[in-house]
Amino acid sequence: MSLLRMQGVWKSYRQGGAFSCRPALPVLRNAGLRIEAGECVALLGPTGSGKSTLGRILLGLEAPDTGTVLFNGQPMRGAGGRVAPALRRQVQAVFQDPHGATSPRFSAFEVVAEPLRYYGVTGAALRARVEELVVSVGLEVAELGRLAHRFSGGQLQRLCIARALALRPKLVLLDEAVSSLDVATQARVLALLGRLRAETGVAFLFITHDLRLVRGFAQRCLVMQDGQPLDVADPFTGGSALPALAALRDAILPARPRGM
Ligand SMILES: Nc1ncnc2c1ncn2[C@@H]1O[C@H](COP(=O)(O)OP(=O)(O)O)[C@@H](O)[C@H]1O
Ligand SMILES: [Mg+2]
Repeated sequence: MSLLRMQGVWKSYRQGGAFSCRPALPVLRNAGLRIEAGECVALLGPTGSGKSTLGRILLGLEAPDTGTVLFNGQPMRGAGGRVAPALRRQVQAVFQDPHGATSPRFSAFEVVAEPLRYYGVTGAALRARVEELVVSVGLEVAELGRLAHRFSGGQLQRLCIARALALRPKLVLLDEAVSSLDVATQARVLALLGRLRAETGVAFLFITHDLRLVRGFAQRCLVMQDGQPLDVADPFTGGSALPALAALRDAILPARPRGM
């Protein structure tokens, strides 16, 4: 059984808002995918191709018009449309903007402690787990008292990664999680993610519009084409018939010839 399985998902948004008379435009069209335990899967596609919509549906944050999302064979959203509490902690997410994803009033400690507290962890056990997590993402325990928003973007994103891993999820969705970082920081955070996956056995769905980020990182690549994530064996050479993939390749500037 797959860790996560999405099948036959359709999703439309009404153009111009929920009360507009303009016709609804399908963003996802019969979309499906599988993620196995411990896998690192990249979901590529140009901006506006529906990657984040697919991610929100996988997380159970949004309902599909039709179709199913199963986590370990169980429906992600129950009869009342709510994510089953037992599933919620198993699937976590890290988004593009770490400042928007954390309270400006929280210390670094509070950012990482938040989900643990929610699940009733307190006292010495809470401190020990938070310290273990911040060390695992390459930050210093001595920095836990600092206001999180005083951290650099890369450091704050590390805190968000620590927070996402706090409850030992089986799957973490990373939606453009390194896209706003500078190139050197991107490389360091990607290396960190690779190490954390090896250590914890967590699976990643790595969503990005930047083809360069998946080289050597993802085990499997999917490309959003006409509202469906399609498997491509090698996004750098294969699948060239897919216009969405060609667009992603064109977006990478060619290396400048020597002497220019
Ligand atoms: N809540 C929403 N209401 C209306 N339209 C939306 C909403 N979310 C996404 N869309 C539209 O759906 C399309 C896909 O968006 P999105 O999933 O964010 O793509 P991506 O993450 O690939 O950039 C876009 O045209 C976007 O404008
Ligand atoms: Mg997006």
